Amino acid sequence: MDAFSLLKADHQKVAQLFEQLESAGGAGKLRVFEQIKTELELHAEIEEKVFYPALEEPEETHDLTLEAYEEHAVVKQLLRELGRARTANDEWQAKAKVLQENVEHHVEEEENELFPKAEAALGEEEIERLGQRLEMAKMRKQRGGAAKKSAASKKASGGAKKTAGGTKKRATKAAKKSGGTKKSGGTKKASKASKSSTTRAAKRAPAKKSGGASKKGGGAKKRGGSKKR
Ligand SMILES: [Fe+2]
Repeated sequence: MDAFSLLKADHQKVAQLFEQLESAGGAGKLRVFEQIKTELELHAEIEEKVFYPALEEPEETHDLTLEAYEEHAVVKQLLRELGRARTANDEWQAKAKVLQENVEHHVEEEENELFPKAEAALGEEEIERLGQRLEMAKMRKQRGGAAKKSAASKKASGGAKKTAGGTKKRATKAAKKSGGTKKSGGTKKASKASKSSTTRAAKRAPAKKSGGASKKGGGAKKRGGSKKR
């Protein structure tokens, strides 16, 4: 398969998934999104590893290729942000729409501008060769992903056994630790108390600590600025 046919097939698959995303409801949206994310990440990776490097040098394709890298970066950022969500609320759906528009723009530019220029710059044979390399890269990546998944599930089931055996050990360790903490906390308290001569100050100290911890948890960063070109 030549490079253009392979990449166009990927583009079509993603376009269909975006249609499914629109009609899916609730949790279904998140499931379809996961598929979109997997497809786009794989597609972007093989393009960046195999296709774009070949197009960076020729003058005709140089600028468009650099632009394509930048568009990928925007898409990846949106995928990361969308991937963090637990519900497909209105804000999430707005972001998903921006993702779709960015992808559509990128695909249009690739198919209508970059591909014709690439063919002129590299020639049919090279496009065919690149297609084979893209296919290989895709297969390798997919196999790698599957192997990772099965390794993770093996680890999870093996880990469960280990946990059962290790409970006693861990419990003892935890007991020791908590005993130790108490002790050291007590020592701190005592020294503080002796310094300030009040027990109240010593009691307030741990409360302050937990307040700090909860503050740390609540720092969700809001991002915007996904520009559509
Ligand atoms: Fe692309």
